[in-house]
Amino acid sequence: MNILVTGGAGFIGSHTVVALVEAGFEPIIVDDFSNSEKRALSGIERILGRPVKCYEADCNNLETIQNIFRQEQIQGAIHFAAFKAVGESVQNPLKYYENNLVSLITLLKAAHTEGVKNILFSSSATVYGLSEELPATEQTLIPKAMSPYGNTKQISEEILRDVVASGALLRGISLRYFNPIGAHPSAAIGELPLGVPNNLVPYITQTGAGIREKLTVFGGDYDTPDGTCLRDFIHVCDLAEAHVIAMKYLLSLEVDNYYDVFNVGTGVPNSVLEAITAFEEVSGKSLHYEIGARRDGDVPSLYADVSKIKSALGWTAKRSMKEGLADAWRWQQTL
Ligand code: NAD
Ligand code: WQD
Repeated sequence: MNILVTGGAGFIGSHTVVALVEAGFEPIIVDDFSNSEKRALSGIERILGRPVKCYEADCNNLETIQNIFRQEQIQGAIHFAAFKAVGESVQNPLKYYENNLVSLITLLKAAHTEGVKNILFSSSATVYGLSEELPATEQTLIPKAMSPYGNTKQISEEILRDVVASGALLRGISLRYFNPIGAHPSAAIGELPLGVPNNLVPYITQTGAGIREKLTVFGGDYDTPDGTCLRDFIHVCDLAEAHVIAMKYLLSLEVDNYYDVFNVGTGVPNSVLEAITAFEEVSGKSLHYEIGARRDGDVPSLYADVSKIKSALGWTAKRSMKEGLADAWRWQQTL
C-alpha cells in the first residue's frame, strides 16, 4: 500500500520511511530538500537494500500533489514537510506561516479531489507552550503560542479539526512529538542540522566531536531537581514506529470522518544535565560545558502523559534517552 511521505528526506521523515517499508508499506517521498540532503535517500537505500521513490518537489504545489496521489495510487499521507526553527520563525514569520500552513492546506485539497482519506500530521509539544500542567495531556488547555512556528502547529491542528467537523471524508491524526533525538542504529540516517544547532542533542554531539568549543546549558536555576530544564526525549525510531501504528489505525477505521490528537513521548522527564551525563557515559568523552543564562521562551519542564496513545493505539516508547544519545553519537561520527 502506497503512503505519501512529505518531508521524507528529513530527520523524522527518513526514519519513518524505513519503518514503513519494514511494516510492508510502500512510501513515496516528496521533498524539496530545503532542509535536507540527498544523502538521506542513499542512507535509506543502504538500510533497506533498495531505493525508495522520491519526487523532488515543493509540496505547496497543488497540481504536483494531485498528480502524485493519482499516479501512485496513494492510500494515506504523512505530512512532515515544514520549517521548524523556532527562532527563525520569530525573525521571519511569513516564511513559516506560508510554508507550514499552505503545505497542509494543499495536501488537504489534493486529498479531497483525489479521494485520499488518511492523513497523519506532524504536530509538536510546542503547542503546550507555557502551560504548567504536567505531565501534559491531550486535554491540557492550549495557551497562546509562543512563536510563529508554534502557532503554525496550533493552527494546523485547528484546520484538520475544522475540515473533519465539516463532514469531509477525512480521517486525520495529529501526533504531538516531544523532543525527538537519536538516529537509526546503523548510523546511515540521522539528524542534519544546518549551521549551528538550536537543539540540545545535536549541540552535545557536535561539541563531543570538537565542532563546537563548548555547550552552554541554558539556565541552572530552574525549580527542577538539578536546576536545569526537564524534557521528554523520544528516540526517533520509536517516533517512526508510532507513525506506522497510527497509519495502520487510520486505515482500519470503519468511519470515514475522524480526527484525534496524540502525544508521542516517553512520559519520562530527563534534565539537560542528565542528558549530558548520559552522553558522557555512552561516548566515553568528557563534555566541555558551562551553565549560562536562561534562554528566552524555554519552559522549565515539559513531558508527556502517554496514556492516550498507549490505550488507543497500543504504542509505547521502547528506547531510552541513553540509547538515543548513543545512536546520535554514532551518527555524528559519520559526518
Ligand atoms: P526536517 O527539517 O529534518 O524535515 C522536514 C523536511 O521537509 C525536510 O527534508 C525539508 O527539506 C522538507 N520540506 C520543507 N518544506 C517543504 C516543502 N514546501 N516541500 C517539500 N519539502 C519540504 O524536520 P524534522 O525534524 O524531520 O521534522 C519533521 C516534522 O516534525 C516538521 O513538521 C516539524 O515541525 C515536526 N516536529 C519536529 C520536531 C523536532 O524537534 N525535530 C519536534 C516536533 C515536531
Ligand atoms: C531542550 C533543552 C534548552 C540547547 C524545541 C522546540 C520544539 C520542538 C522540539 C519542533 C532546553 C536546553 C538546548 C543548548 C541547552 N521542535 N539547551 N543548551 O526547546 O525543548 O524544543 O525542539 O516542534 O518546538 O522548541 O528543545 O533541544 O532546543 O532544548 O541548555 O545549546 O535543552 O534550554 O531546556 P526544546 P531543545
